[in-house]
Amino acid sequence: MVFRHVAVKLHRQLVRHLSTAQLPLLGKHCLITGGSRGIGNAIAARLASEGANCVVLSRSLSAAREAIDKLAVTAGQAHVAVQFDVSKTRRMWTSDDLGGVNLSSIDVLINAAGVAQHTFLFTTPESEIENIISTNLMGTIFACRTFARPMMRRKEGGCIINISSVLAGRGARGSTVYAASKAGIEGAFIAFLGIGFFSAQ
Ligand SMILES: NC(=O)c1ccc[n+]([C@@H]2O[C@H](COP(=O)([O-])OP(=O)(O)OC[C@H]3O[C@@H](n4cnc5c(N)ncnc54)[C@H](OP(=O)(O)O)[C@@H]3O)[C@@H](O)[C@H]2O)c1
Repeated sequence: MVFRHVAVKLHRQLVRHLSTAQLPLLGKHCLITGGSRGIGNAIAARLASEGANCVVLSRSLSAAREAIDKLAVTAGQAHVAVQFDVSKTRRMWTSDDLGGVNLSSIDVLINAAGVAQHTFLFTTPESEIENIISTNLMGTIFACRTFARPMMRRKEGGCIINISSVLAGRGARGSTVYAASKAGIEGAFIAFLGIGFFSAQ
């Protein structure tokens, strides 16, 4: 009887050890803006495959749902689809904005939502200029404002990754506003590198 008890205990410890070794992000909550497609979606897939619970954010609920349906799920893992337009809010995001997501529960924030530009500055409509800055720069700023403080208050901290671009440093024809939006991200957050902010190109 004693032997059986010890064997069960050892088995449970082994399973826990194997889980954290194979799924290092088990129990972590990651929110990925722009997780429905492209780079954000690839990041969500990787985080999920390492055990994380993903909150996938997109302007379209069906696109976000479609994305989470394809994410890996092991025991205890759950993913959430959220419809939210990062370009539309000029204040910190609330839990209600994000369909009830507990803001303090987010361990990792990936700011991947972004729009590109393929037109010369003089022919780019003003609405498009506004949308590029609002999505890429303002969206990132308000996401960081929303999640950085709860992360800093927690003992275990957190991590924010902002997706920049090589164009931030040198611009390009047809990408003036886009480059400015990415340069803004780097200018704003380079100073935070020491506490876990990271701008990836
Ligand atoms: N692709 C590249 O070569 C490259 C190079 C350097 C940097 N980047 C950066 O990497 C990031 C991802 O690029 P990508 O090429 O993967 O883009 P993508 O395939 O066009 O995907 C963009 C993502 O952003 C979301 N999104 C766009 N506007 C949004 C808004 N207002 N609110 C919420 N979500 C929004 C889209 O979701 P919905 O359409 O479903 O809303 C989609 O999930 C961007 O920040 C981009 O600037 C890309």
